[in-house]
Amino acid sequence: MRIVILAGSIRKNRKSIQVCRYLEKQLSGRGVEIDLVDPLDDPLPIFDDFADENPVVHKAVQKMENRLGIADAMVFVTPEYNGSFSGVLKNTLDYFWNEFSGKPIGVAAVSAGKMGGINASVQLQHVVLSLGAYPLPVKLLVRRVDHVFDDNLNPVDEEFVRNADKFIDQFLWFANAVSTAKKPKKYENVS
Ligand SMILES: Cc1cc2nc3c(=O)[nH]c(=O)nc-3n(C[C@H](O)[C@H](O)[C@H](O)COP(=O)(O)O)c2cc1C
Repeated sequence: MRIVILAGSIRKNRKSIQVCRYLEKQLSGRGVEIDLVDPLDDPLPIFDDFADENPVVHKAVQKMENRLGIADAMVFVTPEYNGSFSGVLKNTLDYFWNEFSGKPIGVAAVSAGKMGGINASVQLQHVVLSLGAYPLPVKLLVRRVDHVFDDNLNPVDEEFVRNADKFIDQFLWFANAVSTAKKPKKYENVS
C-alpha cells in the first residue's frame, strides 16, 4: 500500500511538519510505502483552474497530481489557523478531485493550545467528504505541539504517542479495508 502524507503548513518554523515526519517514520516502520508531500518543496500557485482542465499546467501542479494520483490512501496534516484548517492545504485540495475521490483519508490537526486543532479537524473531515473520499472517523489531535518533540524529533509527550499509535492502527485497518475492497462498477465516480 502506498500512502501520501500531505503537509498543511509552509510557515517559517512550522511545527506540524514534525507530526508529518513522525507519522512518516511510524508508518514506514509498519511496512507501508510513504510519500511525504510538502508544498514547501514545490509550491503551487494560487488555484485558478483544475489541474486537468488547465492547458498550461504549472509543473508543480503536474508533479503533485502524479504523486497524489498513485496513492492508495492519504493523511492530511493541518495546523489550526483561525478556527479552521490552513489556506495552503485548501489551495492544494482545490486543484484536484480524481486523485482523492474514493480514497480513505485520515486527518491530523495540530495546535499550539490545548484543543489540538479540533475545529480544523472537523472542518477538514467535511471537506474530505466533498472530495468524494472516505474520512477515517478517528482523528489525531496534537495539542501543545511546541512541547511534543525534543530537538531530535523524539516525542516527549506520552499522550501524543498513545494517540498517534491508536490513529495509525485504525488508519491502516481502514486504508487497507477501503483500498482493497472491490467496488461495484455502478459506484465508480459517484460522489
Ligand atoms: C495565522 C495563525 C492562526 C492561528 N489560529 C489558531 C487557532 O485558531 N486555534 C489554535 O488553537 N491555534 C491557532 N494558531 C496557533 C497554531 O495552531 C500553531 O502556531 C501551530 O504551530 C501552527 O502550525 P504550524 O507551526 O505547522 O504552522 C494560529 C497560528 C497562526 C500562525
